[in-house]
Amino acid sequence: MSLEFNKIAAGVLAAALGAMVIGKVASALVHPSFPAKPAIEVKEDAPVAAVPGAAPAKAPAPTGTDAAAGKLAFDKKCSTCHKAEKGAANAVGPALFGVAGGKKAAVAAFAYSSGMTGKGGDWTDEDMNELLWKPASFVKGTKMAFAGLPNDKERGDVIAYLKSLK
Ligand code: HEC
Repeated sequence: MSLEFNKIAAGVLAAALGAMVIGKVASALVHPSFPAKPAIEVKEDAPVAAVPGAAPAKAPAPTGTDAAAGKLAFDKKCSTCHKAEKGAANAVGPALFGVAGGKKAAVAAFAYSSGMTGKGGDWTDEDMNELLWKPASFVKGTKMAFAGLPNDKERGDVIAYLKSLK
């Protein structure tokens, strides 16, 4: 009786051990491994493609009219490339004395981009506002490597300053 019990107990034990071993081996064999990089990446902030034919964004109306504040902003942000005093020579950009209100791309001896020469017309307040808001979107392929003046007050002040140069 007790021998029979021992045999059964040993059998149960062996079966349990066997199950454990099989479990370990099986999990080692089929352990799922994930690639470090997913095959398809879903970018959450992928840019939304521009709708073809949609009107390009327009610059907001400038709010500043302070030519003195405009000169300070000009000295900080534009004077690396532009001189503005009467009779000043061209630099990286054309000399800007008298440019506001005058013909576009008309400064003598300055090699404009074809985008700028092709623009045509005068530097009205509206066009100046567009240029200074986002130069590269107003003039395709412009040589003016400047991001623009997003601040409506500052942009207006700079336009007022440019108009005072005459
Ligand atoms: C990194 C140099 C650079 C900076 C900074 C820069 N510009 Fe220009 N700008 C240019 C160049 C170069 C052109 C000629 C663009 C072309 O031919 O496409 C130009 C063109 C212009 C024109 C048109 C001139 C014309 O004869 O028709 C105006 C107006 C102007 N810039 C104003 C500004 C003002 C105002 C700022 C500051 C807010 C500024 N720019 C900052 C380089 C610069």
